[in-house]
Amino acid sequence: MSKLWGGRFTKPTNKLVEEYTSSIGFDQKLALQDIQGSMAHVDMLGSCDIITMEEVKQIKDGLLTIEEKVKSGEVTFSVEHEDIHMNIENLLIDEIGGVGGKLHTGRSRNDQVATDMHLYLREKTKGLIELLEAVQSSLVEQAETHVETILPGYTHLQRAQPVSFAHHLLAYFWMFERDKERLQDSLKRVNWSPLGAAALAGTPYPIDRQMTSDALGFDQPYPNSLDAVSDRDFILEFLSVSSILITHISRLSEELILWGSQEFQFIELDDAFCTGSSIMPQKKNPDVPELLRGKTGRIYGHLMGLLTLLKGLPLAYNKDMQEDKEGMFDTVETLEGALSLLAPMLTSMEVKGDQMKNAVKEDYSNATDIADYLTVKGLPFREAHEVIGKVVLYAIEHDKYLLDLTLEEYQEFSALFEGDIYEKLAPHQVVAARNSEGGTGFKQVFNQVALAKEHLS
Ligand code: ARG
Repeated sequence: MSKLWGGRFTKPTNKLVEEYTSSIGFDQKLALQDIQGSMAHVDMLGSCDIITMEEVKQIKDGLLTIEEKVKSGEVTFSVEHEDIHMNIENLLIDEIGGVGGKLHTGRSRNDQVATDMHLYLREKTKGLIELLEAVQSSLVEQAETHVETILPGYTHLQRAQPVSFAHHLLAYFWMFERDKERLQDSLKRVNWSPLGAAALAGTPYPIDRQMTSDALGFDQPYPNSLDAVSDRDFILEFLSVSSILITHISRLSEELILWGSQEFQFIELDDAFCTGSSIMPQKKNPDVPELLRGKTGRIYGHLMGLLTLLKGLPLAYNKDMQEDKEGMFDTVETLEGALSLLAPMLTSMEVKGDQMKNAVKEDYSNATDIADYLTVKGLPFREAHEVIGKVVLYAIEHDKYLLDLTLEEYQEFSALFEGDIYEKLAPHQVVAARNSEGGTGFKQVFNQVALAKEHLS
């Protein structure tokens, strides 16, 4: 098979070289974007009188035929034609003859591949934003029914203070909200057009870059042709944002795994989202959140891979840059899979409010509230902290919780204790009392649910 660039060569390419340098195995994912970019380019060539309108028509008809074939899976791409760009150009020439060779006028694969990736990432980023919103909706839905469901809140994974379950879920809502904002913001930079930068220096043809930029829905052409073909920041940024997003998914997954364990029993994932063991008949394993947690590694890896790839690369295009694609594709597909599962898994999860409440009753997480009680009665907080530390120690030694101690016992530690201490210590009251802005007090959480819904609509 002859090469599009064969003129300068006297020998056929070594087969191993052909295999090694080819990217068609993965960049065929860009086939439709490549055709889309070519359509815009050829229209522009026609309207700038670089080729004739008749030629434009022939090329566009040919591209449309190829597009149909790509969509119906009829085309076979070949390693001999190296990448998606030369595969499509060859298919075009097969389809319409020599006139197909005019498509590449005033263009290089360098601006072409960059254009394809900008188009791909724009579309995929928008799709990911929608999937992320579905996860946020699942969180809000669960939160709405669990404002008054109380569970232990932890620091250092030690019981700290009880919180509303809705409050805990909404913490993830806001993390995802920031991820969404970062994705949206990144679109500003994804949406520049490299097309017309040609190999690196621009072209002598009287092309119209604004025209192709507009036709492809970009905000503007890159102002510098060298930057246009060398820039991979937009992918770095996507991988960075994705790394943060998968971190949040992983933290949530970790909690679902913990909460679903025999030790916690705060939630139960739906059977449809769990798997069994080939040997232990009793097992119901949280494979999905475990995999979501585990997927973090590959996305961080792709970010590190691309950072390392770009470090020290001189301008402009270098073949190293062909390695920018697989990590980007894999990150997109990993996130699509993760978000699509997370939403229904959250919606279908059973929340065991009674178990959560029982856990709260059997701890000392209302200790801060007794300290606050003494503080309100005039004792400096630091002294109150010391007194209650002793009360807790006494209770532990006597195998009791703070609500079990008698008033006489309390008064051994401070004369400021009165009968109203017990109502302050009840879990519901402990949560309700934290009504400071953004706190877990029920009023605050109700407001937060409403705010979250506003952000979604
Ligand atoms: N397959 C190449 C890539 O993905 C396309 C650009 C090739 N450009 C070149 N000058 N060899 O990077």
